[in-house]
Amino acid sequence: MKKIGVLFGMENTFPGALVERINSMELDDVRAEFVEVGGVEMAKACPYAVIVDRISHDMPFYRAYLKNAVLTGTQVINNPFWWSADDKFFNYSLAERLGVAVPRTVLLPHKQFPREINQRSVRNLQFPLDWEGIFDYVRFPAFLKPHDGGGWRDVFHVHDREEFFQAYDQTRDLCMTLQAAVNFKEYFRCYVVGQEDVRIMAYDPRRPHEHRYVLEPQVYPKGLLKRVEKDALTLCRALGYDLNTVEFAVEDGVPYAIDFMNPAPDADRYSVGEENFEWIVDKVAKLAVAKVALSGRVPELRWASLLGGSSGASVKGKAKKVAESELAQGTVSVKKTAVKASKGLK
Ligand SMILES: Nc1ncnc2c1ncn2[C@@H]1O[C@H](COP(=O)(O)OP(=O)(O)O)[C@@H](O)[C@H]1O
Ligand SMILES: [Mg+2]
Repeated sequence: MKKIGVLFGMENTFPGALVERINSMELDDVRAEFVEVGGVEMAKACPYAVIVDRISHDMPFYRAYLKNAVLTGTQVINNPFWWSADDKFFNYSLAERLGVAVPRTVLLPHKQFPREINQRSVRNLQFPLDWEGIFDYVRFPAFLKPHDGGGWRDVFHVHDREEFFQAYDQTRDLCMTLQAAVNFKEYFRCYVVGQEDVRIMAYDPRRPHEHRYVLEPQVYPKGLLKRVEKDALTLCRALGYDLNTVEFAVEDGVPYAIDFMNPAPDADRYSVGEENFEWIVDKVAKLAVAKVALSGRVPELRWASLLGGSSGASVKGKAKKVAESELAQGTVSVKKTAVKASKGLK
């Protein structure tokens, strides 16, 4: 019997519904349950073929438990290694490289240094910063928001330099980004499951929290929805997330991706509404069951190959590829060095 485990925090509706849905499929050799974990013995195989992780971002013990589980062949939704390594600023840069529209964004040094850091530790930092250059690039109005955050915490809408500095002064030792505001007409939140299924949900961030998912039927241009779906898939495939929400703010028909690092997205029946809830429970249940067949394998990261690199090749293989491409371009002297270097890597 293979087990699918669900690991969760405060949420109430999704984890139970997911377990019930998987078990209602009455598969001969698969059962779902809530994960139970205590002290974790190193390198010991995890009893779950698949774990659906909804909470390890808030609980370092769970994150470490999941990494060990991946090592022993458990399929974790989402990959805890990539989730640990990822941040929103990297995601914006990646999106830009992949041709997905994102608002102009700058990464800023912390307003206050982290506790262990003092003036002597930051001698590489430019001081004062070139604020004029930063403001000229981003332009106001803008959003000042953490490079790795969620739940609208520490997000500031700023309209000019004064408002910016007032907000920045409140950001403690957080690492922040400054991003051009999209003056949006439409706004979508998209579930993306298994890097294949997309559910585009109209969302109105200007409404009170409990009414943000627009549940009344809406009509949008087909071309816009197609582009949103395509871009959402491009991002999740590049990032390798199996469960994510991608948020787009649409200005003049252009969907700008503004938040797409949500690997444990809100899936509460009472916020997303009955139909979206049914959809997400169904898709995640099917994905978890499909992943059972992959247990025993360790996942790979994806974005490099999408940018024309080769994420899986050995260092020797990569060096050889560089040498070959340089030979094709006729840069012989570089080629010789590169071939030598690649031979040296035994
Ligand atoms: N560049 C932007 N343009 C317009 N609105 C934005 C922008 N960035 C953030 N917002 C608004 O702030 C909200 C929270 O920001 P977001 O990037 O989604 O962070 P979080 O991960 O905390 O949800 C968004 O839902 C949106 O309403
Ligand atoms: Mg958001």
